[in-house]
Amino acid sequence: MARPYVLLSCATSIDGYIDDASDQRLLLSNADDLDRVDAVRASCDAILVGAGTVRRDDPRLLVRSARRRAERVACGQPPTPTKVTLTARGDLDPTARFFTAGDPPRLVYCAAGVLEKTRERLDRVATVVDAGEPVDPAWILADLAARGVRRLMVEGGGTVHAQFLTAGLADELHLVVAPFFVGDGRAPRFVGEGRFPWHPGRRARLAEARQIGDVVLLRYALSDRCPET
Ligand SMILES: NC(=O)c1ccc[n+]([C@@H]2O[C@H](COP(=O)([O-])OP(=O)(O)OC[C@H]3O[C@@H](n4cnc5c(N)ncnc54)[C@H](OP(=O)(O)O)[C@@H]3O)[C@@H](O)[C@H]2O)c1
Repeated sequence: MARPYVLLSCATSIDGYIDDASDQRLLLSNADDLDRVDAVRASCDAILVGAGTVRRDDPRLLVRSARRRAERVACGQPPTPTKVTLTARGDLDPTARFFTAGDPPRLVYCAAGVLEKTRERLDRVATVVDAGEPVDPAWILADLAARGVRRLMVEGGGTVHAQFLTAGLADELHLVVAPFFVGDGRAPRFVGEGRFPWHPGRRARLAEARQIGDVVLLRYALSDRCPET
């Protein structure tokens, strides 16, 4: 079975940071771009974020537009995609909005060593899947495919994005650049060090550059599965 089509989505500052070092969530996008992200979410079967993002940002990960939810339902889909996260430590709070907002299925891919305690904590709010040890993103994609996921949106954070990119498991990258600097080495960047399949000797294809108000969307094709336009 083919792995799902994997679309990575990320917003950065001009200097490549995806957050600042404060306790507050940093808003990088603007309203029109958030609406675009909502449309991308609505086009997917599942949305994945790392446990770090669940803890730090407490995102809802729902399709916000009532029209888009209704269109999904008219096509026989649930109103909002399945929510997916992965964890090695199992340190996830069942009252996080990942678990409480909306009623789509929620999957937690959990390292085998902490499976029991994670199931005890999250059993009522999610399906906790034994993902072995260490947890392999390729295995997660195969399992998602077996659950009927054909199109997956990965919304971060940096640790998760880096794993999908370095493993060659990404088909498309949506990178939004916000018009300011963060300039703080304590803040997280889009990705850290790694051996990426795209480097000076193998450049990725820029499929689109689009201005959306004061931000710019760069859409990179990272595999042959990514359509031309
Ligand atoms: N600007 C944007 O577009 C955007 C989007 C999303 C997030 N962010 C930012 O990104 C930051 C969070 O990024 P992050 O890199 O710290 O966290 P992350 O990528 O969201 O999550 C990392 C965590 O996911 C789990 N994980 C990742 N790979 C795993 C694997 N192979 N096996 C098992 N567990 C695995 C681990 O959880 P455990 O620790 O539980 O084991 C790990 O600590 C936040 O500051 C957030 O604001 C920005």
